[in-house]
Amino acid sequence: MTGPDVLASLRPRLPSPLQEVEDVRFARHGVRLLLKRDDLIHPELIGNKWRKLAPNLDAAAGRPIVTFGGAYSNHLRATAAAGRLLGLRTTGVVRGQELADRPLNPSLARCAADGMRLHFVDRSTYRAKAEPRTLAAILRAAHAEDAHVVPEGGSNVEAVRGCVSLGGELSGLADVVAVACGTGGTLAGLAAGLAPDQRALGIPVLKGGFLTAEIQTLQERAFGRRRGVWSLDDRFHFGGYARTTPELDAFAADFEQRHGLPVERLYVAKLLYGLVILAEEGRLAPGSTLAAVITGRP
Ligand SMILES: Cc1ncc(COP(=O)(O)O)c(C=O)c1O
Repeated sequence: MTGPDVLASLRPRLPSPLQEVEDVRFARHGVRLLLKRDDLIHPELIGNKWRKLAPNLDAAAGRPIVTFGGAYSNHLRATAAAGRLLGLRTTGVVRGQELADRPLNPSLARCAADGMRLHFVDRSTYRAKAEPRTLAAILRAAHAEDAHVVPEGGSNVEAVRGCVSLGGELSGLADVVAVACGTGGTLAGLAAGLAPDQRALGIPVLKGGFLTAEIQTLQERAFGRRRGVWSLDDRFHFGGYARTTPELDAFAADFEQRHGLPVERLYVAKLLYGLVILAEEGRLAPGSTLAAVITGRP
């Protein structure tokens, strides 16, 4: 089987389901809320992981895959699972040399059980991993010089192009499509796939305000120019990555109860919280349809 056939054999649920939910916090402002259930695409390659990894597995054309992440990286876990499912060799370059001498945490243990080789590097090397000489040294040390390299978070040109289909699946079905952003790769592709009269809204979960420039760069590299209508609202990071508050936890638990949707806490909870506030502020036009992309599962 060739690359695309192997991926098809995993039977992804594509297009992912689109569900309308009744939520008074939107309905009283005349806004229809849809949930784009990318969390249901595949039991192990969930949400944007499928959309970003699938084109990379294709590009790897059977070569091993090397990628990068911290000790609790969802992206490392998804890559390891893809390796097991597709019979590909994977190597995970993990931030933190000191972890090499400790028992693996459950997340890294899962990666190892899926056959991923773990290669630990010190933090300053890790920070410099995008620099060609450092990258070459890492690959040499990991015995992976022939590998297809996927960056941390998975957002390379292939991944951004892979997320165009998310926009395409929503074309004509919503006025605004909202997604939580880490590296911004998902938003970069999504925005490019929407119709000209639709707009994409990103809710960054990291603090910093640097993401607009990065998404623009990702689009220029993937498409040669900025594409689609998109913007970010930087107010809902709750202090930064993996930071939360009792209010956000209560919000997520309440959303689960109201709609029976398992709410992933690092990204999806912040997205949904931000959207409720935007509706309250009257920033979503009455009569409009809003689609929230559910990019993960708890
Ligand atoms: C559940 C979930 N949602 C959203 C994102 C953000 O994706 P991106 O890094 O493409 O902005 C991630 C990041 O990997 C994620 O795990």
